[in-house]
Amino acid sequence: MSNNLLKGKRGIIFGALDEQSIAWKVAEKCVEQGAAITLTNAPVAMRFGKINELGEKLNAKIIPADATNMEDLENLFTTSMEALGGKIDFVLHSIGMSMNVRKNRHYTDLNHEWMLKTMDISGISFHRVMQTAMKLDAMQEGGSVLALSYIAAQRVFPDYNEMAEAKSLLESIGRSFGYHFGVKKNVRVNTISQSPTYTTAGSGVKGFKEFFEYADKMSPLGNASADSCADYCVVMFSDLTRMVTMQNLFHDGGFSSMGMSPAVIGLDEA
Ligand SMILES: NC(=O)c1ccc[n+]([C@@H]2O[C@H](COP(=O)([O-])OP(=O)(O)OC[C@H]3O[C@@H](n4cnc5c(N)ncnc54)[C@H](O)[C@@H]3O)[C@@H](O)[C@H]2O)c1
Repeated sequence: MSNNLLKGKRGIIFGALDEQSIAWKVAEKCVEQGAAITLTNAPVAMRFGKINELGEKLNAKIIPADATNMEDLENLFTTSMEALGGKIDFVLHSIGMSMNVRKNRHYTDLNHEWMLKTMDISGISFHRVMQTAMKLDAMQEGGSVLALSYIAAQRVFPDYNEMAEAKSLLESIGRSFGYHFGVKKNVRVNTISQSPTYTTAGSGVKGFKEFFEYADKMSPLGNASADSCADYCVVMFSDLTRMVTMQNLFHDGGFSSMGMSPAVIGLDEA
């Protein structure tokens, strides 16, 4: 159902790899709500992902960009403004990658070259994206920028490994850049801290299935799905949230406020 919450708005969506990707759902819902968008992902993801399918379905131009490459990002914003016919109203950063996680390196035995790459792809790229947008004056007044995060930025989840540091960095960049973007361009910047979700990036984390089930029991509303995350993103891109900025917003069915859940230890609900 569409309420046309994003009617006439132009957006850039990073990170749609396949139909499980959170960004995939966000792209679909944004278009359903009246937005025109471009899609982007790392050049390598063009080969093994399904982004072309999504581009055709949503009539969205696909512009490859490695989020750690400033020339790619400049081209992305310039080409998006041309394709969409004006400045950009919203951006979704939905990017995460860690070689140490992929290769199962233990947190106490990390490859630090890979760790630096993780920080660049999963954290600093958020700064790169916003710096590019600001330099090119590509964001519309009152625009909205979002990145997806995870609660391991605040609490210890041992198997999340170095991605915990990447998410802390990401959220901090959201706050710091949010100040500058707010003052200069009236643009809001927030991060959404999402429940564990079955996607390529999510299920790459060791013990994901057990952890997913634990979080589901811990949360009074259960885990938030990718679909509901997309709904939340739409609201954050809409004019209904004009005064929300520099926040890390939990979208987790209540998980972040829980101490103990009877469901987890096999007791009846209170
Ligand atoms: N799945 C979860 O459990 C969960 C929970 C909380 C937050 N998140 C976050 O949501 C975001 C999206 O992840 P997802 O779960 O949809 O998985 P996903 O694997 O579908 O998406 C990750 C995306 O990052 C892209 N990417 C990797 N390196 C890149 C680069 N150099 N340049 C540009 N793009 C690059 C990948 O191609 C992929 O499209 C990530 O930031 C992730 O950390 C996921």
